[in-house]
Amino acid sequence: MSEPVEHHIFNGIEMGVGTWAWGDRLVWGFGNGYSENDVREAFLTSIRGGIRFFDTAEVYGQGKSERILGELIEQTGEQVIIATKMMPFPWRVFKGSLRIALKNSLQRLKLNRIALYQMHVHLPPLNPKTWMNRMLDLHEEGLIDAIGVSNYDLTQTIEANETLKKHGARLASNQVEYHLLDRHIERDGLLDYCLAEGIKVIAYSPLAMGVLTGKYTAANPLRGTRAARYSKDYLAKLQPMFNAMARIGNEHEGKTTAQVALNWVVQKRALPIPGAKDGLQAEQNLGAVGWRLTADEMTMLDELSLQVQKSGIL
Ligand SMILES: NC(=O)c1ccc[n+]([C@@H]2O[C@H](COP(=O)([O-])OP(=O)(O)OC[C@H]3O[C@@H](n4cnc5c(N)ncnc54)[C@H](OP(=O)(O)O)[C@@H]3O)[C@@H](O)[C@H]2O)c1
Repeated sequence: MSEPVEHHIFNGIEMGVGTWAWGDRLVWGFGNGYSENDVREAFLTSIRGGIRFFDTAEVYGQGKSERILGELIEQTGEQVIIATKMMPFPWRVFKGSLRIALKNSLQRLKLNRIALYQMHVHLPPLNPKTWMNRMLDLHEEGLIDAIGVSNYDLTQTIEANETLKKHGARLASNQVEYHLLDRHIERDGLLDYCLAEGIKVIAYSPLAMGVLTGKYTAANPLRGTRAARYSKDYLAKLQPMFNAMARIGNEHEGKTTAQVALNWVVQKRALPIPGAKDGLQAEQNLGAVGWRLTADEMTMLDELSLQVQKSGIL
């Protein structure tokens, strides 16, 4: 059987960069420890390293992430692939709401069209079919190249994909949380469905919001909102996995724990979009591609992550 063809915007793209932290104060503390200059360095370093795909959303920093990206694209003249998202707040039910949201995103990004427009999440009252039909209108007008969704479960993904197929279009991607500490898409059939249909799985928080760098420990815990999800106890239980990841990294000329975590996502045929707050983080994340974990190492990492899950802390 031939391989399903992915949308052309993903041709040759193994990894992207997530830009939630570029302007977000609430979760990431933008302006406190890192600045607009730092995220500029993250952008430039990523570009120099061959990254072309940048993910943002209208809600990141209440538009600030899109604005920063727009400035960077204008200043550098770089040809990049931008993916942004629309949040379907329950009051955004009228027909023109998607168009208004898109137009506002395009204005902030200083673009005429968007490469990938994604529904951020599924929220009532409208169903995926209605949203996809509205997406199709914008696609036909040439305002969107590819249509994507995010946080859609298997049923919602099938509904979105089938709606688009009826009109000769296709669902390009589903952006979901996927990393060694969250493998729900392997268990519920979403990953297999997307692979079979040529829908790109964009893996968000591929470093588990920084946890999979191994730098956070019980002695150096996370602070702020991230601490609510990944407690000190949780971090302590991850230590055996981090030790094994460091050993595996050493077998590949000293790859870091974060680089091993991101390469695992790539080997699962998903597209990781790690966030980077500055040039150094961006530089280190670039080292996650261009090499391959072995099949044995993948099996070992799969087993270690299952043990973490079985320990009841996930
Ligand atoms: N669709 C959705 O609902 C959704 C949800 C979440 C995220 N996303 C997307 O996915 C992207 C990535 O996810 P994420 O930002 O949540 O988390 P992530 O990529 O798992 O982690 C990013 C954070 O890890 C730390 N980090 C990254 N590289 C590092 C390095 N080389 N060395 C040390 N620390 C490093 C930084 O934070 P510290 O330095 O502060 O630790 C950075 O902000 C987002 O930017 C966004 O585009 C989408």
